[in-house]
Amino acid sequence: YAKELAKGQHWVITAGPTREPIDPVRYISNHSSGKMGYALASAASKLGANVTIISGPVTLPTPDGCQRVDVESALCMHEQALALAPQADVFIACAAVADYRIAQVADQKIKKTNDEMTINLVKNPDIVADVAKLASKPFTVGFAAETQDVATYAKDKLARKNLDMIAANDVSAEGQGFNSDNNALSVFTSTEQFDISLASKGQVAEQLVSLIVKQNKK
Ligand code: C5P
Repeated sequence: YAKELAKGQHWVITAGPTREPIDPVRYISNHSSGKMGYALASAASKLGANVTIISGPVTLPTPDGCQRVDVESALCMHEQALALAPQADVFIACAAVADYRIAQVADQKIKKTNDEMTINLVKNPDIVADVAKLASKPFTVGFAAETQDVATYAKDKLARKNLDMIAANDVSAEGQGFNSDNNALSVFTSTEQFDISLASKGQVAEQLVSLIVKQNKK
């Protein structure tokens, strides 16, 4: 049933970390592995969707049948997302986008002449929120990694970013979420809650993808 609905649809999924350049040899990033986003891409592709992953730097192989656009910075991920999302049926923001980027990237390698140095940061655009503002908005799904009050913060993000669905995980819980092979999710729409219990990211992805297909049909 989910297979019939997803067949031929175009899904765009952001995955992995971003890298924010400081100078030609340095950057700020985070520990996102991209595993959850890649598992979602694989699950959606198995249902017959045409999947494009907009990927930050990860060491994972591209899942069979998926297209992949490699980016480094949040600004590049933003540009690719806004180019691809208007034609998409489903957009999933699974990337761990850096909240801030370096205000002025140095042209040359910065020398260690001073004992202290200060780097000014400016806020990056919110990719998923901007996709959700599109006139031809795809069914838009965000993630929320929280360490407390998971449901409250997730529902707030759902409303504030105008998302159709949000998948929240408690990253303070042992053995799940960030960089782990397993995950558990609480999924919210504006009216409903679904719980996906602790399992491999592959199994969790299959459940989330079929939930998206069913909710998108409504
Ligand atoms: O606000 P917060 O970063 O917690 O929101 C997480 C969700 O928003 C994730 O789906 C993430 O991929 C997305 N996001 C984004 N662009 C940003 C920051 C977060 O798409 N600049």
